[in-house]
Amino acid sequence: MKIGVLGTGDVGKTIATKLVAVGHEVCMGSRARGNEKAVAWAKGAGGTEGSFAEAAAFGELVFNCTKGEHTLDVLRQAGDLSGKVIADVSNPLDFSKGFPPSLSVCNTDSLAEQIQREFPRAHVVKTLNTMANSIMVDPRSLPDAHHTFLSGNDADAKATVRGILASFGWLPDEIIDLGDITTARGTEMYLPLWVRIFGATKIGAFNIKLVKLG
Ligand SMILES: NC(=O)c1ccc[n+]([C@@H]2O[C@H](COP(=O)([O-])OP(=O)(O)OC[C@H]3O[C@@H](n4cnc5c(N)ncnc54)[C@H](OP(=O)(O)O)[C@@H]3O)[C@@H](O)[C@H]2O)c1
Repeated sequence: MKIGVLGTGDVGKTIATKLVAVGHEVCMGSRARGNEKAVAWAKGAGGTEGSFAEAAAFGELVFNCTKGEHTLDVLRQAGDLSGKVIADVSNPLDFSKGFPPSLSVCNTDSLAEQIQREFPRAHVVKTLNTMANSIMVDPRSLPDAHHTFLSGNDADAKATVRGILASFGWLPDEIIDLGDITTARGTEMYLPLWVRIFGATKIGAFNIKLVKLG
């Protein structure tokens, strides 16, 4: 599949590298074609790079790996997203008052919903935002079963993203479909706990395991 990865940070690079490794064609997007990090990534991983608009146009599916506070602006620059699946791993973290960050949107709304409202003809699927990027693409690096989530309004889009997660190594039972896009409120609002666990343990390589009765 042709995939656009918007973002040159650790998440964008990690996801883009894995997507190439599992057989996809990937174009990494940044604010301007020729971004130093994107050029280095493309050279090393065997992908291509361009502006956010060029990467989004390239992809049948687009991974949003941009800083939450700029995500809507980035997607506005990205051109026509109609019909595309947007796999959204961003978090609406506000570091303007330092650590720990607060959430710029929460409770009755989420960044994923803001994206879906702004681009009603795209299919937003929130996923993977509840863990460090190394775990996103290498779930078997943890010594136990653990879980990730899907939130989105379109069943086909969620099936497409589920397939990509499976290719990353996620087992079917480890991918929990929470329901429509409003359920992204829950995974985004987990982030204040994530940063406190990280602050207390200094370990980023952990994840949620759902332990159930029966
Ligand atoms: N780090 C993790 O392990 C992790 C885990 C879960 C979720 N997340 C979420 O994933 C997203 C990406 O995180 P990250 O740490 O890889 O990178 P990041 O530093 O949060 O974001 C990097 C991207 O944001 C873009 N950006 C920065 N300032 C901008 C501006 N003023 N206008 C437009 N775009 C701007 C950059 O564009 P350029 O390429 O042009 O510089 C770059 O592509 C974030 O939303 C984060 O909360 C991160």
